Amino acid sequence: MQTLTTQVAIIGAGPSGLLLGQLLANKGIDNIIIERVSGEYVLGRIRAGILEQGLVDLLAEAGVDERMKQQGHFHDGFEIAHYGKRFRIDLKTLTEGSAVMCYGQTEVTRDLMQARENIAATTYYESSDVQINDADSDTPSVSFTHNGEQFTLNCDYIAGCDGFHGVSRKSIPDENKTEFERLYPFGWLGLLSDTPPVANELIYCKTERGFALASMRSNTRSRYYLQVRLTDKVENWSDADFWDELKKRLPQDAAERLVTGPSLEKSIAPLRSFVCEPMQYGRLFLVGDAAHIVPPTGAKGLNLAASDVATLFRLLCQVYDGSDDAAVERYSQIALKRVWHAERFSWWMSNMLHEFKDEQVDSQTSQTFERFMNSELDFYLNNEAGQTVIATQYVGLPYEKV
Ligand code: APR
Ligand code: PHB
Repeated sequence: MQTLTTQVAIIGAGPSGLLLGQLLANKGIDNIIIERVSGEYVLGRIRAGILEQGLVDLLAEAGVDERMKQQGHFHDGFEIAHYGKRFRIDLKTLTEGSAVMCYGQTEVTRDLMQARENIAATTYYESSDVQINDADSDTPSVSFTHNGEQFTLNCDYIAGCDGFHGVSRKSIPDENKTEFERLYPFGWLGLLSDTPPVANELIYCKTERGFALASMRSNTRSRYYLQVRLTDKVENWSDADFWDELKKRLPQDAAERLVTGPSLEKSIAPLRSFVCEPMQYGRLFLVGDAAHIVPPTGAKGLNLAASDVATLFRLLCQVYDGSDDAAVERYSQIALKRVWHAERFSWWMSNMLHEFKDEQVDSQTSQTFERFMNSELDFYLNNEAGQTVIATQYVGLPYEKV
């Protein structure tokens, strides 16, 4: 057994863990990351690509924004196509200057990995049997196996950045947490292709056939999604089937412009709203997907992880600079305010933009829900106040003061 010591033990080398580790290291706060899989495996995950200004600023603060500035694109708006009518949500005008950055999460993760390597900070990839010990004491630790050797990492604090399926949330006793969950009766079939995007901005489409989203990663790489039944399987969808269905759901002029090509990746993801309260237990703090999950409709997953990281980072700085050694006790209460706003927005966008026809409820109930949601979307899209509500939340609410 090898014993190690650090100030902050970080479990998980996804965007949350890497960003927190970089910010802490830049402040001279020692941290070690323990990751279950290899770096290559982490980079192989296909994720979303819409960054709020808060995350853009945080990456700049971490000194990890160079490539994003060169290769990312700010989007001043996006479109919602609702049963053939098209509405451009003019983010810049409606929010008096805010926009969103289109830059793939995989690239954010790649940049953060490179930055961590550049400062020679310690990351134990391909670790197993990760276990959190004594989180509710003043001497917590994380034990794990790496290259066949057992380690105990003694630390001051543990940041659980290990995602929805990680060990951190499960380490909190049931009596010390409450979990809130909403499952959606459909999934998103996503396809990545090296084809030029169908438009310069994102198009969210609500149609009788179901939801579709036209997004992008660059001027030569596109990302598309189709709402599919939960029982659907990716093997049921050839590339040709995907492109045919997408053309039926896109606005006609976009469908006519669509450039198709072989899929680089194709997969179905379920949609879920989930929050664990509180987001801390003793000296263990849940960050990002370890604490909450949003349906991708509002593009909030990575952005919520970023605001958690910012909150925990600033509170840890107050502890280590001596200005407030109890600061971290406020983490969950501060983080949850912004979490629930993003959860509500993502839930609301999902309800408005998807077809719930095949939900497992009687048809009269689902048709009634459909009427309410179509009217809700119609109301918000057809007046400036309504579009401002959507724009203000899409660019991201301000980070909470700590
Ligand atoms: N021990 C160590 N590492 C673990 C463990 C464990 N027991 N369980 C999971 N991990 C690792 C995963 O392999 C993953 O690399 O923790 C990391 C968690 O990363 P994410 O799941 O990406 O979560 P997060 O960093 O919070 O980023 C949230 O990523 O999944 C998307 O939609 C999500 O955009 C959001 C963002
Ligand atoms: C994506 O580009 O993958 C994406 C963009 C916006 C969303 C969801 C996913 O709301």
